[in-house]
Amino acid sequence: MTVSPLPYPLRLTGDGIVLREWRWEDLDDLVALLDEPDIARWTLRPSPFDVEAGLAYLRRAHRGRLDGSRIQLAITTDGGRPLGEVLLFNVRADAHEAELGYLVGLPFRRRGLASAALSLLTAFAMDNLRLRRLLLRIDRGNTASTSVARRCGYRPAAEPAIQQTGPYGPVHLDTWEYVEGRADTRDDRRRNVASRRYGRR
Ligand SMILES: CC(C)(COP(=O)(O)OP(=O)(O)OC[C@H]1O[C@@H](n2cnc3c(N)ncnc32)[C@H](O)[C@@H]1OP(=O)(O)O)[C@@H](O)C(=O)NCCC(=O)NCCS
Repeated sequence: MTVSPLPYPLRLTGDGIVLREWRWEDLDDLVALLDEPDIARWTLRPSPFDVEAGLAYLRRAHRGRLDGSRIQLAITTDGGRPLGEVLLFNVRADAHEAELGYLVGLPFRRRGLASAALSLLTAFAMDNLRLRRLLLRIDRGNTASTSVARRCGYRPAAEPAIQQTGPYGPVHLDTWEYVEGRADTRDDRRRNVASRRYGRR
């Protein structure tokens, strides 16, 4: 199997969560999740994030899934209401690399959802898509996101920061990497899953 086109539809289950495809009827929940300052600040999504932005977002997600260029999944606990999103994009098949991203709605944070979703999609990408290096781009001031990355076995990569301008001024995106076979990444992923499973969070 090659990494292009990416598989569709997808449903990934494990670690107390279900990752599923976005649906048109998620529009109101999507707008409620993404119309939030931290999401605008750290993910550079449109702000305010209104129904029009939501429709454009769902259309783009749908297109990306049908043409196989992206994986964009709603984070749920049971396949129902979306609580956040995890995605895989910018696939470079020649280098066996892709980028991942995630966000969780404000009321649903600090429950381990982002860590569970990133762990699940990381495992799927490494085990099923023949990817060898997965990347995250995280602003150095985004403590929540760097904690999630570290928890899931990602480590800072030796790459220069990417400068961008967001609604709250300049952002400096550091690259974090998850590399196939590196012992500490495997151990972290296992620990992350185990701590969740045995309720030690
Ligand atoms: C980053 C984000 C996705 C984290 O989602 P989450 O579901 O709350 O993350 P988790 O519950 O899996 O947190 C894992 C660990 O990260 C750390 N963490 C999470 N939020 C934190 C915060 N606000 N401050 C400090 N540490 C934090 C904690 O160590 C946490 O473990 P613990 O609270 O159980 O001890 C969420 O805050 C978010 O959507 N932020 C806005 C969008 C964004 O920044 N996306 C990432 C762009 S690179």
